[in-house]
Amino acid sequence: MTETGPEIHGERLAQRSANGEPVVVVKQLVKEFGKLRAVDNLNMVINTGETYGLIGPNGSGKTTLIRMMVGLSRPTSGTIHILGEKIPSHKVSPNLGYMPQLSALYLDLTAAQNMRFFCKIYGLRGKEQGKRIREMLERVDLADRANDVVSKFSGGMKQRLSLACALVHGPRLLMLDEPTVGVDPELRRTFWQYFAQLNSEGVTIIVSTHHLDEASRCTRLGLMRLGELLAQDVPQDLLRNSGKDNMEEAFLYYASRQDEEVEEETLEKGDRRTLALIFLVPIFMMSLLFLVLTSTSTVHTLVLVRPTGANSNQVNALIDKLLPAQDKLKTINITAGQVDSTLKNGNADAAIIFPPDFAQQVSTGQNPTVQIKLEGSDPTVARAMSDVANGLTHQLGVALAALSAQQHGQAGQTLTISATIPFTVSEPEYLYGGADYTG
Ligand SMILES: Nc1ncnc2c1ncn2[C@@H]1O[C@H](COP(=O)(O)OP(=O)(O)OP(=O)(O)O)[C@@H](O)[C@H]1O
Ligand SMILES: [Mg+2]
Repeated sequence: MTETGPEIHGERLAQRSANGEPVVVVKQLVKEFGKLRAVDNLNMVINTGETYGLIGPNGSGKTTLIRMMVGLSRPTSGTIHILGEKIPSHKVSPNLGYMPQLSALYLDLTAAQNMRFFCKIYGLRGKEQGKRIREMLERVDLADRANDVVSKFSGGMKQRLSLACALVHGPRLLMLDEPTVGVDPELRRTFWQYFAQLNSEGVTIIVSTHHLDEASRCTRLGLMRLGELLAQDVPQDLLRNSGKDNMEEAFLYYASRQDEEVEEETLEKGDRRTLALIFLVPIFMMSLLFLVLTSTSTVHTLVLVRPTGANSNQVNALIDKLLPAQDKLKTINITAGQVDSTLKNGNADAAIIFPPDFAQQVSTGQNPTVQIKLEGSDPTVARAMSDVANGLTHQLGVALAALSAQQHGQAGQTLTISATIPFTVSEPEYLYGGADYTG
C-alpha cells in the first residue's frame, strides 16, 4: 500500500467529488437531549469519492451526527438521505460500514470470531464469508492474529480489528468515529494509508477526528462546534478564507466568528425587546386614550409648542405624521407663553412643549428636554392624555434615533440597542384651577 501525499490526495479527490453524486444529504438536522442541542440545524451534502472530515472538540456533536447517519439515533427534526434513501432504512445497511468511537468488539472472542459476528449481521455466509475475513485481516495486518482472543490485543490492534469489522461486507460508505484516537503516530499514518486506498477503490469516507493534522488528508472538512457547522469546505479554502496558515488557527478563527454571531443574536434579541417596548407601550397607551375618548362625547385638546429653530422642519414633519388621527382629539399649535393659561382655563387637556432649538440640540447630541403638562381636574382624562403625550414623544424619539443611525452610514441596518432616544421627556406637570401640582 503506497502512501499518497496529503495535498495531492486532497486535490485529486476534490476533483473527483466535484463530479460525484451526492451520497449523503443532510437537511436542517437537529438533535436535542432534553434542553441540550447536540446537533443544531446542520446542512451538508457529501459526494461520491469524498473523504469528509468532521473536526471538532469534545462534545461538539460529531458522534451524535454520525449515530443519526447510521440510523442508531433518531433526529429531533430534519432529514438524512443516504444513497437516496431516507434514514433509517434497512436498504442502506448493506452499503454502510460503521466504526463506532467506543469499540464494539467482544473481548472474549477471537479476531476471526468477532469478524464472523459482523458478517452474520450483514448476511455474509459460506466461502464468501471466509474470503472476506481473510482479506480484511490481511489488510489491517492482523492475519497472523486471527485466532487470538481480542482481550490480549493492544489498543491499536483493537482499532485495526474494528476497522476490519466495519469493512467486512464491502460497504460503499464508511463512517469512522475517531478511528485514530489513542493511536500512535505510526499507526495513524497506516490508518490514513488504508483510507486513501479504500477511497481510491471508490469508498466514500466520513471520518471524525480531533487531530487537526489529519485535516489536509480529507477532500473536505466540516468544522463542528457546539452542535453547529462553523464552516465546510476543502481544507485549502478553509485556510485561505480564514487568512491562516494552519488548521488549528483557522478553527479558532471560525470559532470566534461563531462567538460573535451568538453575541449579536443576544443583542438583537435585546434590541427586539427594546423596540417592542418602545413601539408597543405607546400604542397600548394610545389605545387607552381611544377607550376613554370614545366613551365620552367630549372632544379633547392637545396643544403643541413646536420647535422653531434651525432644522425644525424635519422634526415638525415627523410630529405631524405621528399625531394620532382621532376624531375626538384636536391638536392646536400655540406658543410657550400661552400654555399654562390655556390649560388652566380648560381650553386644552394636555400640552407638549419642545424647546425652540430642539432640532439643533438633538443633532448636536445635547439631549434636550421635552415638557408635558396636563390639566388635572378629571384624573381619567388626565391619565389618558398623559399616555397620548408620552406615546407621541416616544415614537418621535424612535424615529429620530433611526434617522440618526441612517445618517451615520448604517442605512438598512436594524436599530441597534445603542441607538437611544436623543432627548428626555420630563415627568408630566399637572395644572389645576390655578394651582400647580408636580408629579
Ligand atoms: N445520549 C445522550 N444523552 C444526553 N446527552 C448526550 C447524549 N449523547 C451525547 N450527548 C451530549 O451531546 C453533546 C455532543 O456529544 P457528542 O458525543 O456527539 O460529541 P463529540 O463531538 O462526539 O465529542 P467527543 O469528541 O468527545 O467524542 C455533548 O454535550 C454530550 O454530552
Ligand atoms: Mg465523539
